[in-house]
Amino acid sequence: MKIAVLTGASSGLGQEFFKNLETLEDIDQIWIIARRADKLEQMARDAKIQTRAIPLDLSQKNCLDRFSDILEQEKPDIRILINNAGFGKLGYIYDMDYSEQAEMIAVNNTALTVLCVICLKYMHEKSFIINVASIAAFVPNPRMSVYCSTKAYVLSFTKCIRQELKPRKINAFAVCPGPMATEFLDVAGISGGKSKTFERLPYCNASKVAKKSLEYARKGRAVYTPKLFYKFYRVLCRILPHGFVMKFSKT
Ligand SMILES: NC(=O)c1ccc[n+]([C@@H]2O[C@H](COP(=O)([O-])OP(=O)(O)OC[C@H]3O[C@@H](n4cnc5c(N)ncnc54)[C@H](OP(=O)(O)O)[C@@H]3O)[C@@H](O)[C@H]2O)c1
Repeated sequence: MKIAVLTGASSGLGQEFFKNLETLEDIDQIWIIARRADKLEQMARDAKIQTRAIPLDLSQKNCLDRFSDILEQEKPDIRILINNAGFGKLGYIYDMDYSEQAEMIAVNNTALTVLCVICLKYMHEKSFIINVASIAAFVPNPRMSVYCSTKAYVLSFTKCIRQELKPRKINAFAVCPGPMATEFLDVAGISGGKSKTFERLPYCNASKVAKKSLEYARKGRAVYTPKLFYKFYRVLCRILPHGFVMKFSKT
């Protein structure tokens, strides 16, 4: 059984990835993961191809263990793994609840890493991994310190495993979108004019980001930064001192 595993499927970019996965001919089943079971089950009922809802809280070790047990029992052929689940919180590090900061690291980094490790046992030649990073990976953004650091990890980790996986002919790919109009903004506490930077920046279209990411990851590309504006930003972040860029990148 050839499957695609998608985390963070219940909203935003995850739902856009799901719509694209439904159209693929080399996939028999999609396994979708998030906390909101009702949303996942509704998606599974309405899906164009067989879809399995697996409600899990990825910040919890017991949920990661449960997913590992499911894989061990069913030994699927994982063709695509999309680590999309993630969230950020806006605020100064000293004002924020430490449990939220720890949860961000658990979902954005620990779960993403564990899923790569456990899924790779069931991945073969020509399969691929998409890890969702962000433009926040290029240079840190004050007032989103932990979030940016988690996304820098995602980008770095993905580039690294890409090299390790080359002999196995498995591609690891990172996508680095700018802002997208999803629930992310409400969860982060950005909506309602709380961040001038987010109000000024151009927005990426989540549907295009998902489509292009799948296309490029399959072709073997390493990193995709949607929009010319953010491609240019990525180059600037390589050239300019980060201390200087951070004066303008504060969220
Ligand atoms: N929107 C942006 O501006 C933006 C920009 C750059 C990068 N990104 C990245 O894009 C990815 C998708 O975000 P989005 O914009 O689509 O936001 P979103 O609509 O809030 O989606 C986030 C997804 O992650 C899932 N999730 C969050 N915590 C989870 C947990 N503990 N366990 C399992 N699933 C969890 C959510 O599902 P449940 O709530 O049902 O668990 C939801 O499906 C994230 O990695 C985000 O960092 C977003």
